[in-house]
Amino acid sequence: MEVLPQRDSGQGPIPEHVAIIMDGNGRWATKRSLQRLRGHEQGAEAVREAVRGCGDLGIRYLTLFAFSSENWSRPIEEINHLMGLFRFFFRKEINALSDAGVKVKFIGDIKRLPDDIQSLVAEIKERTQHNSKLILTIALSYGSQSEIAGAMRIIGEKIKKGELSAEDISEEMITRHLDTADLPDPDLLIRTSGEKRLSNFLLWQCAYTEFVFLDTLWPDFRKEDLMAAVAEYGNRNRRYGAL
Ligand code: FPP
Repeated sequence: MEVLPQRDSGQGPIPEHVAIIMDGNGRWATKRSLQRLRGHEQGAEAVREAVRGCGDLGIRYLTLFAFSSENWSRPIEEINHLMGLFRFFFRKEINALSDAGVKVKFIGDIKRLPDDIQSLVAEIKERTQHNSKLILTIALSYGSQSEIAGAMRIIGEKIKKGELSAEDISEEMITRHLDTADLPDPDLLIRTSGEKRLSNFLLWQCAYTEFVFLDTLWPDFRKEDLMAAVAEYGNRNRRYGAL
């Protein structure tokens, strides 16, 4: 595995790629006797804060877990509200993201999303494809095990057609067939809300990722939380299994 040299902020190395499991929207709302949907709305504000924070800190890649394969089993009203929020956010932010030099990518089973959101996804990707200041990847209808199974199916098909042989299968080859093929592995994964699980997010890609679990509920996430996680990452000693 290639280990990239890391830039230093003066307070320690800055991760090149930060992935975030944005958790705690529902609890944030319940604590305030509000509907869960209000928590998701505030969560969208925190997304803006995270994108700005990464830009300010010089983080090159930000990957956000916005909607998991498992989230399809939530009540239909909540799913519809989340879809409405994605629609609103994408329409509203497309110009700002494009002007700020953000390239937006998507991973997950995008074909399961409503048609108009699929069109918005295609439009944002197209509009921002030449940007490079920050690569923002949004995981929508994403599940890591299904992503890995999809990669295996493609490799299997190639073997069946004689384009590859079983001996060609390597870690690098599997990596190249994942949705994240053109992204480096995350250096730092942050999960908010005190939960300490990966929840089917980037299982393959997080083999050597540093995890930071914050008690902050996602709607309360601010640049200071990002800085605290980055500072903790800076104190870790990454050995990649070596001494
Ligand atoms: C987890 O909190 C959060 C989600 C399932 C949705 C994440 C979506 C957003 C932050 C909205 C905006 C995102 C974008 C990219 C525009 P939860 O509902 O599981 O909270 P709980 O564990 O407290 O119930």
